[in-house]
Amino acid sequence: MPEGRDIDAIDASTGPRHVAIIMDGNGRWAKARGRPRLFGHHAGARRVREIVSSCPDLGVKYLTIFAFSTENWRRTQTEVAGLMSLFRRYIFKEMQEFVKENVRVRFIGDRPRLDDKLRGLMDEAEAMTRHCTGTNLTIALNYGGRDEVTRATQRLALDVAEGRLLPGDVNEETLPKYLDTCVLPDPDLVIRTSGEARISNFLLWQSAYAEYEFIDTLWPDFTADIFTELLKGYGARDRRFGAVTA
Ligand code: FPP
Repeated sequence: MPEGRDIDAIDASTGPRHVAIIMDGNGRWAKARGRPRLFGHHAGARRVREIVSSCPDLGVKYLTIFAFSTENWRRTQTEVAGLMSLFRRYIFKEMQEFVKENVRVRFIGDRPRLDDKLRGLMDEAEAMTRHCTGTNLTIALNYGGRDEVTRATQRLALDVAEGRLLPGDVNEETLPKYLDTCVLPDPDLVIRTSGEARISNFLLWQSAYAEYEFIDTLWPDFTADIFTELLKGYGARDRRFGAVTA
């Protein structure tokens, strides 16, 4: 924790327990420096470490980050291959660190389209951190909210067709059990960096009542201090979940 960060202003009982982040702006950050887009992604990966490490002090028990969307395959072959290589190296390199920091790692998204090596590393990271009880880090990789709901509906339909679930029992409690996020609470706060005010198919079902923060900072410039400031702002909000308070 760098000196001077005012974490006292964050009340663990009112601060967000689950924060989800759309890490945007790596490309523009690199362009501003006359460097290739992947340079920005590498800088972005370094920020992930800093933000994950800041979670315990900030009372953030769950952190979910959007690393690669089902739409990101439309980028150039060079960028996609570079990102996949970055993910492989990142997971391989960080696994021991996660264990040391008591971080439990999970992945959400559609895995079959990812290469075998990456999938193997993802399985390994999940297995190695299964016993960790600190921050729950969920990395969304080849993830899309609509894709997730579609895959969930296919599994649910199979259970109905094979008699394990009655159509009348499909409700707001049973459906989320089929989502990739079934073991996670819903996010309280969704942050998007880089000045874009869109949710881009991220956690569509889960964010129904989340608060949103859209900030101009590009992801590689997003520091733990900026994160702390955003969380302070969250504590001051009055979340009513559709109800009226006096
Ligand atoms: C969006 O910026 C960012 C991505 C599509 C990739 C996110 C990946 C990282 C932050 C890298 C590391 C993550 C992990 C988990 C190792 P953009 O490329 O759309 O930026 P732009 O909008 O400025 O072009």
